Amino acid sequence: MARLIPIDRDRQGAIGAAIDILSQAKPVALPTETVYGLAADATDPAAITGIYETKGRPRFNPLICHMADLAMAERYATFDPLSRALANRFWPGPLTLVVPLKAGSAIHPLATAGLDTVGIRVPKGFAGDLIRAFGKPLAAPSANSSGKISPTTAEHVEADLGGRIELIVDGGPCPVGVESTIVKVEDGRIRLLRPGGIAAEAIEEATGLAVERPKPAGTAAIEAPGMLASHYAPNAHVRLDARSVSPGEALIRFGDTPVSGEKDAAIVLNLSPRGDLAEAAANLFGYIKQADEAQPSGIAITPIPMQGLGEAINDRLKRAAAPRSA
Ligand code: TXA
Ligand code: MG
Repeated sequence: MARLIPIDRDRQGAIGAAIDILSQAKPVALPTETVYGLAADATDPAAITGIYETKGRPRFNPLICHMADLAMAERYATFDPLSRALANRFWPGPLTLVVPLKAGSAIHPLATAGLDTVGIRVPKGFAGDLIRAFGKPLAAPSANSSGKISPTTAEHVEADLGGRIELIVDGGPCPVGVESTIVKVEDGRIRLLRPGGIAAEAIEEATGLAVERPKPAGTAAIEAPGMLASHYAPNAHVRLDARSVSPGEALIRFGDTPVSGEKDAAIVLNLSPRGDLAEAAANLFGYIKQADEAQPSGIAITPIPMQGLGEAINDRLKRAAAPRSA
């Protein structure tokens, strides 16, 4: 069992305890607005190794580095005018920018898997305050075993990694619920590497530029190495675009469209009865876990609109439904 410190009861105590562990080159689990992260000093190879080992994560998969603000980010990486504009518009928040590392950058190559670019974001709330107090960037992937669903509560983290880490900072449920949107600016074009908590349409609206969508899962693997097709895997088989549910299956639905067979389902969960995609994103990972825990014969999921945060939701669902590689 890890020690659990609730932020709302002792924010300063949580920051102090987290800094104590980070200073020993060990990872700490903490809330961000998207999902819980497993954070460690991005400049320290021992600390970063701790993240990969705790998660069982392949080391070719680079980590996102979290900064207190754009000024801090510019100490480690170079921002072209468009990337800087995106940072100014969307930070702090769930947008990760892939930018070139500065020569001699203190971010350790283990964090970037040896690439000459780094994924950077500035998180809201506690995580941002902690980085400011710590004074160094934090590398932080989601706080789950590699290949599992990302945690959106401290309890999810405890259930998965509790035996392997010392401290979980508890900030309650994450408000966004899906990981950050990752983009890379290239020759003045904005390329989407991973849909996430900021809708691509919001980026298009802010910049007046089209956001280039990623190639289908599998081919995009080279560009964002972590985007393996089978990721976010529950135990039960996932069936997408369901219009009906079989007896014994779990049902995850969206909106108020009726689904035939509902009364014989193992469990019925509605991501958002009023059809709100932000609410659906916030509930997504927790509901997949709940459905899985009912030990159903499978999980049937009704169609989710492919707009706004629906793009990130559909991306994660496609991965949850993908054939397992191992
Ligand atoms: O919301 C989030 O982004 C969460 C919270 C904890 O901040 N973090 C997160 O990290 O989702 P992770 O490690 O699960 O996802 C990192 C993704 C991977 O798919 C990785 O391939 C991609 O970011 N990535 C990181 N650095 C990259 C780079 N230099 N070039 C391309 N992709 C990169
Ligand atoms: Mg992850």
